[in-house]
Order: sequence, then structure tokens, then C-alpha cells
Amino acid sequence: MESLVVYETKFGNTKTVAEAVADAVQAYGPVRLLGLDQVPPDDLGTIDLLFVGGPTQAHGMSARIRPFLDRLETRSATGMVAVAFDTRFRCRQRSLARLPE
Ligand SMILES: Cc1cc2nc3c(=O)[nH]c(=O)nc-3n(C[C@H](O)[C@H](O)[C@H](O)COP(=O)(O)O)c2cc1C
Repeated sequence: MESLVVYETKFGNTKTVAEAVADAVQAYGPVRLLGLDQVPPDDLGTIDLLFVGGPTQAHGMSARIRPFLDRLETRSATGMVAVAFDTRFRCRQRSLARLPE
């Protein structure tokens, strides 16, 4: 099974998760780990499993991930298993409660 992990990152969080995903799936066959700029969505090569990850921005997909996914849908995703993931801000209520007044 050949896998491809594509990620977009601004601060490195999504890259860290993408690296962990690539590390996990390499047990099942060859895996490529590429930044969004390194792979054309209409020419992914012959892969069985695709992961696409990006940061949540403004309550949704980042501006660059959306067109990438749109082009996948119309061009090269037929017959491929695909997984999308994101990283986002996490606010812990308990931590906030501890903030000094
Ligand atoms: C412009 C901008 C908008 C963001 N909007 C959201 C948001 O709406 N919700 C959220 O949970 N996190 C939001 N975040 C936080 C990022 O999703 C989070 O820090 C993410 O892990 C960054 O990933 P990266 O390090 O791969 O760039 C935003 C960050 C930026 C810079």
C-alpha cells in the first residue's frame, strides 16, 4: 500500500502531526511526506491512501487547502482512500479559571 501525506503549516503544528502520521503508516508500505507546495493535486502519482492536513483558520479550512481539495475531487481522487485532518487552537476552561485576576 502506497501512501502520501500532504500538509500545510504556518507554525509547524500540522507538520508535526503529518510526520507522526507518515511514521505510523510506513509500517504498511512506502510513504511520501510532502508540503502542499511540493505536490500538484492533479498529479499525485499512484497511491492507495492519501492524507491531507492543514491548520484550522477562521473556523474552517485554510485558504490554500480548499483549492487543493477542490482540484483533487475533480481530477485525481477517483478510487483512492483519503483522510483529512487539521490542527487547531485548544482552550482549556480549567486553565482559564486559574488565570490571575
Ligand atoms: C489566521 C489564523 C486563524 C486561526 N483561526 C483559528 C480558528 O478559527 N479556530 C481554531 O481553533 N484555531 C485557529 N487558529 C489556530 C491554528 O489553527 C492553530 O494554531 C494550528 O495548530 C496552526 O497550525 P500550524 O502550526 O500548522 O500552522 C488560527 C490561526 C491563525 C494564524
